[in-house]
This record gives sequence, C-alpha cells and structure tokens, in this order.
Amino acid sequence: DWSMSAYRAEMIKKIRDQVGTGRVICGLSGGVDSAVAAVLIHEAIGDQLTCVFVDHGLMRMNEADEVVRLFRDHYNIPLVHVEAEELFLAELAKCGADPEAKRKTIGRLFIDVFDAEAAKLGGADFLAQGTLYPDVIESVSFSGGPSVTIKSHHNVGGLPERMKMKLVEPLRELFKDEVRVLGRELGLPEAFVGRHPFPGPGLAIRCPGEITKEKLDILRKADAIYLEEIRKAGLYDVIWQAFAVLLPVRTVGVMGDYRTYDHVCALRAVTSVDGMTADFYPYDMAFLGRTATRIINEVKGINRVVYDVTSKPPGTIEWE
Ligand code: XMP
Repeated sequence: DWSMSAYRAEMIKKIRDQVGTGRVICGLSGGVDSAVAAVLIHEAIGDQLTCVFVDHGLMRMNEADEVVRLFRDHYNIPLVHVEAEELFLAELAKCGADPEAKRKTIGRLFIDVFDAEAAKLGGADFLAQGTLYPDVIESVSFSGGPSVTIKSHHNVGGLPERMKMKLVEPLRELFKDEVRVLGRELGLPEAFVGRHPFPGPGLAIRCPGEITKEKLDILRKADAIYLEEIRKAGLYDVIWQAFAVLLPVRTVGVMGDYRTYDHVCALRAVTSVDGMTADFYPYDMAFLGRTATRIINEVKGINRVVYDVTSKPPGTIEWE
C-alpha cells in the first residue's frame, strides 16, 4: 500500500542510516527535485546538511533570489550562496559553440565550486542530489560531466574520481509527479512544487552558439515575457515545460523606418508525464501572435519569433 507519508518516513530512516554523523552538502538548482531532496534530508539530519546554491549566471530572471529566499527565510536551512557568474561565463567563453564542451565545462566548474565550498565547511562526506528515476534510466545517454545540478541525467554516471564525497540520492526511485506529491507532503509552497523542470546547465543549453552575457540577458527578458503570458492565459500548470531559446541566427526585419538585423527567438512548450517523451503544446494562434508581438516590441535584440512544433522523440525537449 503505497503512500507518500510512509515513503517519507522510510526515506528519512534510510538517509540517517547512510549518513550517520557525516556532513552532507546539497546543491540547489532552483528546481523542484533538489529542493525536495534538501528538505527531506534536512528533516532527517538537521544541521548536518548545508545547502549550496551556485549562481552560475545561467538562471532565469529573478530565479536566484527566489531560491535563496525560500531556503533561508522559509525553511531556515543553512544555505551558502556562491556568486560564480564571472567564473562560469569566462570559462564558457572558451567553449565556443560546442554543446558538449559547454556541458562539460559547467559540470567541471560545479564540481570545483562544490569542492571548494565543502573544504570551507571543514569537509563534507556526502553530496546530495535530486536524481530521479527517469534520470537514472536515461543515463544511457550520459553525455558529459556531472552537471551537478542536482538532477541531471547527465551526471548519473557517477562523480569523477577526484570528488571524494559519496552520493545521497533519496529520490532515485521516484518519478516527477511523485516528487511533487512528496514536496507537498513536506510542506513546500505550491508555487515551488508546481514549477516546471529547469535543467542544471540552465540557460547555457537554451542559447545555442557562443554564450555571452549580452545574449543571456536578451534570452532572460524574452523568456520572462513568454512565461508571463503563459501564466496569464492560465496554461502554466497544463504545460510540462516552456521556455525561450535564443538562436544564433540573425534575420532582417523592419521597425518603423529602419531595417533591423537581430536574433531569432524560438519558443518551446511541451506536455509530458516524465520528460522521457513529450508532445509540443498546441497553442492557439492568438496566443502565439500576442506573445511574439510583445517579445519583439519589448526585447531589444530580437526581431523574429518562431514556435517549435517538434515532439520527443524524435526531438529532445531542450535544444542542446
Ligand atoms: P531532453 O532535452 O533530454 O530533456 O529531452 C529531458 C528533461 O531533462 C532536462 N535536461 C537536463 N536536466 N541537466 C539537467 O539537470 C541537463 O544537462 C539536462 N538536459 C536536459 C530537460 O530540461 C527536460 O526536463
């Protein structure tokens, strides 16, 4: 007889058995999975847990603040907020447009930052991650370093040798919908539990081509408008994941008396149960028209918007 409260109690016992008196650090990504893992582990071992939130400069608009507020103020869980934007952007600049290089770089930097934070705390024995069951099964497609984030199916292959911490992954048997049930059970705010998944490498994989701060800022603005329109239309909870992608393609447009030569922004929205397969969301054209007009009028640097009608398979949800 499956019930989430029984699962919660069982997990808490398992975490205590595994961790003993050890120190645990848990990376927070801003997503549901790492948040649920952190709250569960905190319930099990209290202040033996320290959360680390690495702000890599690849977050959505306002996202970093929201995460810090939730954990510090709402839960009182010890949280280290690492400002690492400069480091990440400088290293990403060396990757050019290569998607694998970007992911590997992000994974490597995450580990460096975590190692450094663990050392500052006097060493940690365990690294906690919100790895889910689908991450475990999709790990056949393992394609790069641990993007620690805490949930990446790209890190299920295990941590590199040089990372001495052992893994604590209390959500390894759960699907996303079950994690949400567990999150509610643990009292996480609904706004957090209902959040769309967000990938560890963040906006880096939604910005094909070279990554610059300028492009990321353009993408953040378009993405914020898109999500605002989705919420206004009452569609946020119907959609599994929605986001903007800034394409490394410029096209000609006309604005008043001027010609423009700016980026194309692609919009993505899918429905899914577990992220392993997905269908593109069939918006009505009025929604798309309204959203495109707002993005083009309000975001300098974008003069054309397209909608991605690819399902998974054969596409993936993300563009990289
Ligand atoms: P794809 O693009 O593989 O995405 O169809 C399936 C789900 O996984 C998320 N995703 C990632 N999450 N690190 C993560 O933490 C990653 O490198 C990564 N790549 C994809 C994606 O957002 C979707 O929910």
